[in-house]
Amino acid sequence: MSNRGRLYAEVGGEATLTEVVRVFHARLEADPDVQHFFPPERADDLMARQRRYFAAMLGGPHADPDADLAAELAAAHASVAIEDRHVSVVVGHLRAALIEAGVSDSVAERVVNVASRIWWARRW
Ligand code: HEM
Repeated sequence: MSNRGRLYAEVGGEATLTEVVRVFHARLEADPDVQHFFPPERADDLMARQRRYFAAMLGGPHADPDADLAAELAAAHASVAIEDRHVSVVVGHLRAALIEAGVSDSVAERVVNVASRIWWARRW
């Protein structure tokens, strides 16, 4: 099994990911630095997309191993004016959400590293 596949299981699978995304989104909506990006009326749609994306990113059961995740991330954010400081804030919330959902520090760190790597690998 690939490293990504192991990560999905180590995080705790679908149940934990659902909780991670819920906490992640709540934190984004509450943070004055980034909340303008995340209007509450879009939350349900965005959380569903983030759940699918994180499952794919961590090698979940329906993940397409050939998917170009960096290209998908670039397309998803093409119309959003994101500065580097926003990225640190959002990644910080992702780390905190993983911990809050019960993921261990070391696994959370690996997930954050995968997300950061894909983020900075995207073309924009
Ligand atoms: C590790 C970094 C990130 C990941 C993994 C991530 C993940 C995602 C995913 C999966 C979507 C939905 C894509 C879709 O299916 O259309 C999305 C949308 C979005 N993300 Fe991110 N994101 C990241 C960083 C950021 C940052 C730094 C910001 C800005 C502060 C941001 C703001 C948004 C917004 C506003 C949308 C909605 C875009 C739209 O449809 O208009 N994201 N993100």
